[in-house]
Amino acid sequence: MSRIRKAIFPVAGLGTRFLPATKAMPKEMQTVVDRPLIQLVVDEARQAGIEHCIFVTGRNKGVIEDHFDRQFELEVTLVERGKKADLKLLETDLPGAGDTSFTRQQSPLGLGHAVWCARDLVGNEPFAVILPDVLVKNPRGCLAQMIDAAIDLDANANIVAVEEVPMDRVHMYGIVGVGKQKGKAFEITQMVEKPKQSEAPSNLSITGRYILQPEIFDILGKQAAGAGGEIQLTDAMLELAKTQPFYSFEFEGRSYDCGSKIGFLSANVAYGLDRPDLAVELRKEIEQLLAAK
Ligand code: G1P
Repeated sequence: MSRIRKAIFPVAGLGTRFLPATKAMPKEMQTVVDRPLIQLVVDEARQAGIEHCIFVTGRNKGVIEDHFDRQFELEVTLVERGKKADLKLLETDLPGAGDTSFTRQQSPLGLGHAVWCARDLVGNEPFAVILPDVLVKNPRGCLAQMIDAAIDLDANANIVAVEEVPMDRVHMYGIVGVGKQKGKAFEITQMVEKPKQSEAPSNLSITGRYILQPEIFDILGKQAAGAGGEIQLTDAMLELAKTQPFYSFEFEGRSYDCGSKIGFLSANVAYGLDRPDLAVELRKEIEQLLAAK
């Protein structure tokens, strides 16, 4: 497979599950400890060698674009105050000039439509899709593991990160059915978006990380609305699977669904406990809180 250079980040969603926090602030700017969700997934992409980040935004998401720009007044103030560590952090996080693109999904027509909005920015090459709601906590990052696994697969392979979920939760995700193993991946035999428990081909859920071939865009352009009345990426992948190989990849690491309150709170605790500057005190706090309950 040719190198994966570009990643799409769909960030147009309204974030209604987090109101009122998300009334004026994009849900992707919510922080896990002190890094916004969108920064954490961009970190994962850069770790995997992604050179260009494409954000599919919507109205009221301008602050995401600002986040990936310089903050001149802030930098001047940090210089004046001699805050070298903070300055270095901002410098490290700043994408290179021309390494980001922003386009808008004007209407909330679904994930498939959001990905299609980035078609001209991606062009004719395989690309990654990363959903910022899902964090995968692992030193190697999920996308880097997928790109490694691609070495054993066909040149035109599509790869979807999956993990097991309890059967009573399959209706919340895209679910795949799998067949033969190839390297670290399994051939996908079926894909269904948000199936009823009785119709799910397995309990393997799509975890918000994809490597896709550019032929998906033509299909997305014609894709009818599916589950929830939205244009679904899963439906377009099912169509592409008629002509190209699709694989599921079970990554190492734990995922946190930060689109849910429990997932988001758990991520904050887990990432906090991993931080040398916070771990000891945070653990003490948690133990005291639990003891008092
Ligand atoms: C989307 C995808 C679904 C996937 C999920 C992962 O659904 O359509 O296939 O399992 O993300 O979080 P959403 O959560 O946007 O409804």
